[in-house]
Amino acid sequence: MSEALLEVTDLVTTYSPRGLFQGGREVRAVDGVSLTVAPGEILAVVGESGCGKTSTVQTILRMVDPTSGRIVLEGRDITALSQRSLRPVRRAMQMVYQDPYESLDPRFTVRDTLLEPLLVHERGVSREERTRRITEALETVGLTPPETYLGRYPHELSGGQRQRVAIAAALVIRPRLLIADEPVSMLDVSVRAGILGLLASLCEQGLGVVMITHDLATAAHYADRIAVMYLGRIVEEGPAAAVTRNPRHPYTQALMSVIPQPDPRARITPTILTGEAPDAAAIPRAAASTPAAPSPNRRAAGTTRPSTPPSQATTEPPARWSPEASQRRTVSARSPERYVW
Ligand SMILES: Nc1ncnc2c1ncn2[C@@H]1O[C@H](COP(=O)(O)OP(=O)(O)OP(=O)(O)O)[C@@H](O)[C@H]1O
Ligand SMILES: [Mg+2]
Repeated sequence: MSEALLEVTDLVTTYSPRGLFQGGREVRAVDGVSLTVAPGEILAVVGESGCGKTSTVQTILRMVDPTSGRIVLEGRDITALSQRSLRPVRRAMQMVYQDPYESLDPRFTVRDTLLEPLLVHERGVSREERTRRITEALETVGLTPPETYLGRYPHELSGGQRQRVAIAAALVIRPRLLIADEPVSMLDVSVRAGILGLLASLCEQGLGVVMITHDLATAAHYADRIAVMYLGRIVEEGPAAAVTRNPRHPYTQALMSVIPQPDPRARITPTILTGEAPDAAAIPRAAASTPAAPSPNRRAAGTTRPSTPPSQATTEPPARWSPEASQRRTVSARSPERYVW
């Protein structure tokens, strides 16, 4: 039996064009993602804006329907479950959003915010038990004494406290998997470490965490494993220390090269990725071309997916380039599609 809490295989998510939206082109936001998360583990999904991180987790949560692939949670295939059958599954995996200012209802006190998931998912629980669970969740996220916070509205909390309330609301129904989409990027630097440390301590108690971040330094520090995502695909995946100390994929190397070094004498030549972020709607179908890697000037290199491995090489002719697509930036590799440590 597999030990994985979450097992995702070859996940593909495409967004269909609506009218003139995106020039009528289909967006292949997630393009064959496979990943696993074990209980008690933090998997960081790292990549720049638009590479498909949010689409990946929204598909895992079944907020967006997958085009193909398989999502298995605690040994149960949830890929095609109906929304009704998904309700008990949703209890096992909860989401924390990037912006605690938006994710909390301004009309709800902290108590109301934590009570709602209990009322939705655990209707049979007594009033006393609910109060106990709410108190326990607030203590877990470091909002103590809980009575101080119960009656407060979001505008009466700091940004860091709001994100702690959002995490408490996710934890109150005791999920096994927490998916955090850029949980600290909207917060002041001074409170980020506290929130990330909280996630790490929750993992020590057996919770599995998928943490999305565009910051490889944060992933290196807090995650057990890192999956590097580029244009809808995971191009490198492995233990955090291995991926960050000896990145193999050119894109990971480029991300690593721009992390500030604590030692001012350290000499690292940053690989600056120039131009606009790649657009998932403007990728040639058969991106078989494999220019030398990495190309820091992505305008010159054009937009390509990470190269196709020989076993999956396609005989389709390369798709037509649009002038604007050739202006978009890229890092590409003449290397295997995915480095797995
Ligand atoms: N509902 C949607 N309909 C159509 N296209 C979408 C939709 N949501 C996302 N996309 C497109 O899918 C691609 C991936 O978007 P996604 O939000 O998953 O990226 P991301 O990695 O989370 O970016 P960021 O770091 O900026 O949050 C982008 O090209 C985006 O424009
Ligand atoms: Mg996102």
